[in-house]
Amino acid sequence: MKILVINGPNLNMLGKREASYYGVKTLPEIEELIREKARDLGADLDFFQSNHEGAIVDYLQAEASDASGVVINAGALTHYGLALRDALVDSRLPIVEVHLSNVHAREDFRRRSVLAPVAVGQIAGLGWQGYGFALEFLVTHLAQQEGA
Ligand code: DQA
Repeated sequence: MKILVINGPNLNMLGKREASYYGVKTLPEIEELIREKARDLGADLDFFQSNHEGAIVDYLQAEASDASGVVINAGALTHYGLALRDALVDSRLPIVEVHLSNVHAREDFRRRSVLAPVAVGQIAGLGWQGYGFALEFLVTHLAQQEGA
């Protein structure tokens, strides 16, 4: 079972940006921790980060047919990325949206997600562990669907 773990704009700067919101771990450190969790869960991960919406759309178009689900922190694209939203729909994969910070406790514009309506659900405010919880959920969810 392959899960795509996608990070959008500015998440390559984790460790250097607003630690009070995003924590001190870098994206490669988070990736390593999530890979450990994936090994325990028996899932394969494909990590991708880009600062460009079109690059994420290209990635989804290329990889979705070979994947079982998506964990995505789209960064600010969450709030306005309609091309990304369409690509997520076209992937026909179950999506879990992740945010390191509690987007509902910040500026108004962060409360709106154009991705949430096409996701199975959203995890926000649980820091880097949110990626792990999303992965755990997806693996269970996919197993249940297979058994159904
Ligand atoms: C974020 C929240 C977004 O509003 C912001 O633009 C980000 C990170 C988060 O992980 O909390 O870049 O997605």
